[in-house]
Parts: sequence; structure tokens; C-alpha cells
Amino acid sequence: MRLLVFGSNGQLGHDLMEQSQARGWGPSGADLPACDITRAESIDHAFAGAGAIDAVINAAAYTAVDAAESNADTAFAVNRDAVILLAQACARRGVPLVHVSTDYVFDGLKTSPYLPDDRVNPQGVYGRSKAEGEAALRRHWERHIIVRTSWLFGVHGPNFVKTMLRLGKERDTLRVVDDQVGCPTYSGDLAAALLAIAAQVADRKEAWGTYHFCNDVPVTWYAFTRRILALARPYERFRASEIVPILTAHYPLPAPRPPFSVLDCSSLEQRFGIVRRDWEAALKEMLSALYAR
Ligand SMILES: NC(=O)c1ccc[n+]([C@@H]2O[C@H](COP(=O)([O-])OP(=O)(O)OC[C@H]3O[C@@H](n4cnc5c(N)ncnc54)[C@H](OP(=O)(O)O)[C@@H]3O)[C@@H](O)[C@H]2O)c1
Repeated sequence: MRLLVFGSNGQLGHDLMEQSQARGWGPSGADLPACDITRAESIDHAFAGAGAIDAVINAAAYTAVDAAESNADTAFAVNRDAVILLAQACARRGVPLVHVSTDYVFDGLKTSPYLPDDRVNPQGVYGRSKAEGEAALRRHWERHIIVRTSWLFGVHGPNFVKTMLRLGKERDTLRVVDDQVGCPTYSGDLAAALLAIAAQVADRKEAWGTYHFCNDVPVTWYAFTRRILALARPYERFRASEIVPILTAHYPLPAPRPPFSVLDCSSLEQRFGIVRRDWEAALKEMLSALYAR
């Protein structure tokens, strides 16, 4: 299996590279500054360096959700326009493209898990740019898989878990939003799922379309934070003695968040035979890896 990963230095990209190396796939990775996916010649250069390729995974994205509100041009350039360039590059070479997207394409007003075919209605610039990137990919290259995920945390790169670990050491009290519900997702588990999918589509087990992957058991950010600090206590001392649930309205941010973004993953489980686990088991693994570094 020969794989080319765009965004290979990011949180997810790092795990994709590590796991595909462990599988003996000798993956090629491309990321800034050497490879800028907003430039067609940069993408071509990455393909040329990789040689013959069986599948491409795009983990590159502009992921600064709040900054996107004032940097719409960059968000759309990376999350929509560059996806067109990647789709065209893959189409010219006949290579399947596995692309990662987000729960932010939904408005969060549903009360049952979102299905892949549910209507998108993003509320912020980041979500709109990702939703338009998905639509562009569907138009430009039919041999694609879109995998939406949510609340990503991993050992590499900034994320909510690492922020709470830091704040837990800096502050006496943590105030955390308790009226947003979603499913945390370990980037290591998502990477494993994406590699399994890439191997299957490269092997002509075709199931083109849009899917969801997240770890199991919906939770609020508040309840998630309580488990993060509880599970990290064996590793270090925290100053925070109190975690207080608050409302989203009391923690204003530039970009709106979906209040409910639980993703229904059953079609991905069935089509690709992928087994998901609880985020708590994944969080234990992440913390163990983080503190072993
Ligand atoms: N993080 C989450 O909570 C979350 C939730 C749901 C879905 N997702 C999706 O999951 C995927 C992976 O997210 P992540 O957390 O791994 O993101 P990340 O850590 O920000 O990684 C994205 C990578 O893409 C690179 N990149 C940005 N602009 C680029 C360009 N023009 N050309 C080439 N590379 C570029 C970034 O480089 P720089 O760092 O140098 O900019 C970074 O290495 C994304 O599609 C994201 O939308 C993430």
C-alpha cells in the first residue's frame, strides 16, 4: 500500500504517518512550508516526490475556528479551493481521495445523532468553508470518501485535552461549558479508521461517499473536563480544585458552536467493518502516551 498524506505534520497527520509507517507502508507526507495545497504546482510536486500512489488522505486544513471569522479568505482558500486542486490532482491520476471534514458543517439543532445525509447548515466561517470543500470534492472527483469527525484530541498539536491539563495547573477554578454535547475523538483512533478505509478503497472495495467517525458516548465539555483531570491525576498535580459548569452564553467566542453535534457512525461501521470504542478508553491511552514523552 502506497499512501500520500497531505497535512502530515498536523495533529491527525502525525498519527496517520506514524501508524502507516508502523504498517510498513512507507507513506509520503506533505505539509507547509514545503507543500502548500493552495498551489497546484505544490501538490504536483508532492505527487512527483511520492511516486506511484494507491490512495491520498487529506488531513490538511485551516482549523483555527475563531480566527477564521476574521480570516475567511484563508479558510476558504485551504478548506474549499485547495480541496478542488487536490480532487483534480487525484482525478488526473485516478487515485482515490480520503478527505477529513467536521461536525461544524451542522447547525447543532438536531436532538438525535446526525446522519451523513442530513442537511448541512454551518453557522460560522470555518464550518462554511469545510462544507463548501465537501461539496467541491463531490463535484470534482467521484472516487472520494469524506469522513466527518468531532472534538479531536491527540498527543500532537494543540487541543481541548491539552488546554484543560494546562489550565488545571494554572488556575484554582475551571469554568467549562455544559450545554454543548458532542463526541470526543482520539486522533489515533481516527487515523486507524482512515487507514483501514484507504486500504479498502485502494483495493477496489468501493463505497464512495460521506461517512462519520467519532468515539462513542456523547458528553458535554464540562463532563469531559472532569474525566480529563481525574484520569490525569496519577501523572501530575493540579491546582484546580473546582470545575464549574457554565452556559455557552457566559463564554462568548467569535465563532458559534453547534450545541449538539453527535455523529451517527453506523454506515462507516457497517461499510468498512470498523469498530469504535469509548472516548474514555482512548483518553486513557492518549494520556499514557502524552506523559511517557
Ligand atoms: N481539531 C478538531 O477538533 C477537529 C474536529 C473536527 C474535524 N477536524 C478536521 O480534522 C482534520 C485534521 O485536523 P487537525 O486537528 O489534525 O488539524 P491541524 O493540527 O491544524 O493540522 C492541519 C495541518 O494542515 C496544515 N496546513 C494548513 N494550511 C495548509 C496549506 N495551505 N497547505 C498544506 N498544509 C496546510 C497545517 O499546517 P500549519 O499548522 O503550519 O498551519 C497542519 O499541519 C481537518 O480536516 C479538520 O477540519 C478537526
